Amino acid sequence: MKKIIVANWKSNKNQEEVEFWLDTFKTYTDLNNEVVIAPPYPFLSLVADKVKDQKDISLAVQNLSAYPAGSYTGEICVRNIEGFEIKYAILGHSERRRYLGENHQDVANKVDLCLAGKITPIICIDVDYLEDQASAISSENLEKCIVAYEPPNAISTNGGENPSVKEVSKAVIKIKEIFGEIKVIYGGNVTPDNVSDYLSTTDGVLVGGASLDAKIFEQLAYKE
Ligand code: PGA
Repeated sequence: MKKIIVANWKSNKNQEEVEFWLDTFKTYTDLNNEVVIAPPYPFLSLVADKVKDQKDISLAVQNLSAYPAGSYTGEICVRNIEGFEIKYAILGHSERRRYLGENHQDVANKVDLCLAGKITPIICIDVDYLEDQASAISSENLEKCIVAYEPPNAISTNGGENPSVKEVSKAVIKIKEIFGEIKVIYGGNVTPDNVSDYLSTTDGVLVGGASLDAKIFEQLAYKE
């Protein structure tokens, strides 16, 4: 089974930097892993153009509106991104929970809309609130999600305290007890040096800082 390697660029990069990244990043056919790129919204079509013929490279968004199409000024909903072949949506990232006040119910509403639009949610969760988050999501939706186990202290811009592989394995078991036999990936200060360790116990990784440089991300993405 291919592992999922997600590049979460967060709110980084301008157009020139995105073009440089796309020119620098090497693409291959028949990859060992599925590479997923989550650019800021304005660069979706640039990235979509670059990866359209790459069957092992997919596109993700970093968030979606908790509302459907309509009068919600400034929001970007599932309908707005139809046609871009978006496969995944990262939802409930700890930065959104912390800075933008996103709560478990908001995330659950986004999961509903996302699945209705045939986009797979990647829900970011820490074990502290795993059960509370899961209980806000309908039981039929739980097993259609991917969970990214992301202890906030592990995120590189929060200090990057990497959990041990054993801790991650324990979290994966707990997440599967609650969500079912879903894919669980790990996020938090993943680098080319530690990616193989985390991949040994998960279905993939969510990469922030180390995805910003195309050459560093290549080392991660194409690891055996
Ligand atoms: P990081 O970010 O790899 O820079 O720690 C991961 C994330 O926040 O998803």
